[in-house]
Amino acid sequence: MSEWEKLVNDNVQSIEVSGIRQFFNRVSEVPNAVQLTLGQPDFPTPDHVKEAAIQAIKEGKTTYTPNAGILPLRKAASRFLHTNYNLNYDPQMEVITTVGASEALDLVMRTLINEGDEVIVPAPAYPAYESLIRMRGAEPVWVDTRETQFKLTAEALQRKITSNTKAVILSYPSNPTGVTLNEQELQAIVDVLVNQQIFVISDEIYSELVYEGTMCPSHQYRR
Ligand SMILES: Cc1ncc(COP(=O)(O)O)c(C=O)c1O
Repeated sequence: MSEWEKLVNDNVQSIEVSGIRQFFNRVSEVPNAVQLTLGQPDFPTPDHVKEAAIQAIKEGKTTYTPNAGILPLRKAASRFLHTNYNLNYDPQMEVITTVGASEALDLVMRTLINEGDEVIVPAPAYPAYESLIRMRGAEPVWVDTRETQFKLTAEALQRKITSNTKAVILSYPSNPTGVTLNEQELQAIVDVLVNQQIFVISDEIYSELVYEGTMCPSHQYRR
């Protein structure tokens, strides 16, 4: 490591490029390889999406927006949550737009997590959670879910809670396992957390990829 590299922020030095990204970079160099690496659709961006983006650029929508994002988009997000989950979030005060879920997760961590905090993460987990937690100088606390069909159980969660626990990450449907929680399982987790000062960071990026049962996002249970 060079003298200059040693000067880089200690938390940043503690993180690594994720294995899936390293593998993606290697596979990308192999002609005609079928990539089972990054989770993205195997079809091109639909035409109406491309055309809407082109139209917006032509209309000069290329300048600064409010920090939280343009209001019509925040209203659309709020409508989505209402239509799909009967949840009411105020688009002016409770919804912001970000460039993908990564920015949202990073902002949440920056907002909530202090150095020395513990963040409970059911494992296996999306690799960026660890980096984002470590970049705050905080500690990921893993819950091994292999014995419970890759689901976080109330008992396992309870065992990991300490006076330093600041948050728990719920990511259902899960990357990489694909499992999700039913209402009963989620309720048991709510019962553990309800009287604690612990944030739930609920990453529902794959909420549209549920093909059976009833959707019950974690924020349905917000107090
Ligand atoms: C569970 C999970 N959360 C967040 C992300 C990041 O999403 P984005 O590409 O929108 O930043 C991913 C991407 O693979 C993911 O699997």
